[in-house]
Amino acid sequence: MPIPQVRSIKQYEGSLAVDRSSARLDALLENAREGVLAMLSLGERRAAVNGTIIQFQLNQALSEEQYILSVGEGGASVETGGAAGAVYAAATISQLMLENGGSLPYCLVEDEPTLQWRGFLIDVCRHFFPIETLYRIVDLLAYYKYNRLHLHLSEDQGFRFESERFPLLNSIGSWRKSTLVIHNGVKRQDEQPHGGFYTKAELKELVRYAKARGIEIVPELDMPGHALSIIAAYPKLACFSEQVELATRFGVTDFSKKLFCAGNEESYKFIFALLDEIMEVFPFSYIHIGGDEAVKDDWKRCERCQGVIREHSLKNERELQGYFLNRVIDYLHEHGRRAIVWNDGLCNTLNQNAVSQHWTPWFLEGPRRTVRHINNGGNAIFSPFTRLYYDYPYAMTPLKKTFRYRPMLPGVRKANKKNILGVEAALWTEWVDSEEKLFFNILPRLAATAETGWCKHGGASYRGFLRRLKPHYGLYRILRLPYAAHAERTPPLWRRVKDTLLFATKETHIELLRQKDSEHTTKQNGRRGD
Ligand code: ACM
Ligand code: ZN
Repeated sequence: MPIPQVRSIKQYEGSLAVDRSSARLDALLENAREGVLAMLSLGERRAAVNGTIIQFQLNQALSEEQYILSVGEGGASVETGGAAGAVYAAATISQLMLENGGSLPYCLVEDEPTLQWRGFLIDVCRHFFPIETLYRIVDLLAYYKYNRLHLHLSEDQGFRFESERFPLLNSIGSWRKSTLVIHNGVKRQDEQPHGGFYTKAELKELVRYAKARGIEIVPELDMPGHALSIIAAYPKLACFSEQVELATRFGVTDFSKKLFCAGNEESYKFIFALLDEIMEVFPFSYIHIGGDEAVKDDWKRCERCQGVIREHSLKNERELQGYFLNRVIDYLHEHGRRAIVWNDGLCNTLNQNAVSQHWTPWFLEGPRRTVRHINNGGNAIFSPFTRLYYDYPYAMTPLKKTFRYRPMLPGVRKANKKNILGVEAALWTEWVDSEEKLFFNILPRLAATAETGWCKHGGASYRGFLRRLKPHYGLYRILRLPYAAHAERTPPLWRRVKDTLLFATKETHIELLRQKDSEHTTKQNGRRGD
């Protein structure tokens, strides 16, 4: 049975061999061809298989993401309301074949998502990854019926978007001189330059590739904080324009005080011009503008910022942040786009049109502000760091805990539940400096959150999920994607506490190291046994 679990499936005696190299699509579904073939052939070692060619037909009575798959003696056909539904149907077909020895069982599947926003965030700033890594992620997301990839493109530690208008963002802002590493109980600077950025051409092609697989890309330009790489390139944008360097450490600390000056018109001109470039590359209607973890010490000391507070009768620096973000939200709105803001950026005066992305489950007044936003008619996306941040070890955030997550908060009125757009998992990459660590952290977690976003939220069984997950490990191996092989069982509490402490102080990937050790030992023993 597929992941995410399909809405309904009836299985019958018998199965078909399927040609995975071609598909017959309605003229109106031609734009789904690339995604459909990509899903049908994902993990297929042979280029082509003789067999039934699947028919895909548009059925306008169905929604864009909805599909019906019928397989029987007469062949296999899909009806769907749009290109995304065709890609999802192909993913279901691929998964049914994966668990059925390569042939497609006779069945009737009726399927559609529960939540409209099923996203995954990758931070490409703390560590930069080649564009090819993003392609591999997009394929996995489509396979699990996600529909959003959120690219976190600007940070204190690096700027990753090619700007023709502001070239110093790349020559200065995309490169840091060193990075803090923690390994073997030692914390040190590696003294290695690290950086890079994606060209506009690369990103446009990624947008096209993702769209062909039912996925929209949401770019994030973080402001007014987490902007040190921008301020290092253009120091005049800060309240006090001394020269600064990109951060080589992580966290919210001394360097987090460097914000865009909210009282300098040049800040807004700069941001609007940069957003123009971003909008040219990313056509999706949503753009993330950060708003998180802005330490406002400089704003308190800055005459220009204090001038705006007086002029607009704002209560404090939080409301100044509201003023700052509102100008950007309005600019995007004028250009037909909608802004997303992290929930710690919410304040009484923030434009309700902005979507809140909820990540602070109990602190920074997160729940209170998010609940108020939702009950006032605002939209929200849920990404609580205790459940959906994949950068933490499995000891701290076990697979079961991620799987069991439901996007809701006490205090949200029943009638306003519809304002919750969906869920988004996140991989922040402070400690993720290789593809190996990246995929180890997200697999199989991506499968778990796929269920949260797609399935009806009844009492889905973890055991049932694990049963369905089994064949997927085989796919990860075929695709040569590292994954956490022992994440299914939640370790005892003492072990969880111990490994979480180790993660924070001595060894960021102790679980991966243990897994590699054990694989090595198994191989050695196998050799001895030969
Ligand atoms: C965040 O984790 N600072 C959004
Ligand atoms: Zn200022």
